[in-house]
Amino acid sequence: MAELAELARTAGVDVVGQARQRVKAINPATYIGKGKVEELKLLAQELGLDLVIFDDELSPNQQRNLEEELGVKVIDRTVLILDIFARHARTREGALQVELAQYQYRLPRLTRAWAHLARQAGGGAARGGAGGVGLRGPGETQLETDRRIVSKRIAQLKKELEHVRRHREQYRRHRQQQWLPVVSLVGYTNAGKSTLLNALTGAGVLATNMLFATLDPITRRLGLPGGKEVLITDTVGFIQKLPTELVAAFRATLEEISDADLILHVVDITHPNVQEQVRTVGQVLEDIGASGRPMLVALNKVDLLNDPEQARAITTQYANAVAISALSGEGLEDLLHAIESTLAQQMVFVRARVPYAEGELLAFFHKHGLVESERHGPSGVRIEGQLPPGLVSRFERYLD
Ligand code: GTP
Repeated sequence: MAELAELARTAGVDVVGQARQRVKAINPATYIGKGKVEELKLLAQELGLDLVIFDDELSPNQQRNLEEELGVKVIDRTVLILDIFARHARTREGALQVELAQYQYRLPRLTRAWAHLARQAGGGAARGGAGGVGLRGPGETQLETDRRIVSKRIAQLKKELEHVRRHREQYRRHRQQQWLPVVSLVGYTNAGKSTLLNALTGAGVLATNMLFATLDPITRRLGLPGGKEVLITDTVGFIQKLPTELVAAFRATLEEISDADLILHVVDITHPNVQEQVRTVGQVLEDIGASGRPMLVALNKVDLLNDPEQARAITTQYANAVAISALSGEGLEDLLHAIESTLAQQMVFVRARVPYAEGELLAFFHKHGLVESERHGPSGVRIEGQLPPGLVSRFERYLD
């Protein structure tokens, strides 16, 4: 409920009260029980509420009944999250993904929208929903017209998304040609991913104290202490009970995480629900098939802890964790070293005999791998060292 309040504030809603009920079974008509509806109605009048938000998904019927009984607008968690995502989409792809999710949420609920409009128009069919009366096909009811128009928009959005994705795919291939390891930042919303990306790279990504400031992957180059470079990319913030429409819409974006050479999981260790947030992120990673990737945990916001010992104690609870403050810069050097050594652990040993004519290949080894020995012979150079697994194939012909 505290998180729902935070979400509501992010959407610009002034939260004035909360109510909860423990129920054995959900009331199919109103979700909550009869007595509770009465209680809420009084509260709504007393506080002069404009809006009631439920922390779960309501069926179209429940929503309509509740609005009628309470006399105020009623929305559910899904609508709230979709609204926030819609406000924060900063790239074309993000905006399209959210719009698609919104239409998919609305499609099965059109009955309600139409009933509402019909009431406003005095019960007649004088006013239309999406598209208006003029577009109604022969023999079609208004509801059928609305459904047809929304379905058409969904198909259109999917096509546009496909187009944008093809572009992104090209960009991704270009990125892959640079042979730089990719580090993906993941984390529960508000954990501090954007702040960390800014602190590490001076990227200037929007960081605000609002949930979901980041909706789209943003990629930057990052230099490591040993002189190598990686690409670091920010992703959408995770959240519990993310609406299924959104998960589907963001799937392509999320799936890129499973290609990362390293997942950097940013955790807000000062958050009261830290364990639950870590579990949620773990679950999403598992759902998108990314749980097996190498992972490093950045325990963020240590500047807010009173006792530095506390940070050290928490660090030991996680495998491969570093305590940092993206805000004060504390621990960032350690984090960079940890990124470097975790990536180095993934490398594989390669021994190759490279002809002199393939000088470029040797330079490539130096640039992307860790050369352990190099000996010049009559027909070429015998080179030994560690290479990222994806790059070994380039040396296939010359393996020793
Ligand atoms: P989403 O975009 O919602 O996924 O959030 P995010 O994980 O990108 O978080 P963001 O970087 O926007 O930070 C959220 C809030 O936490 C902002 O108000 C930051 O200033 C604050 N914050 C981030 N890192 C730190 C830190 O190390 N210490 C403190 N005190 N605050 C921090």
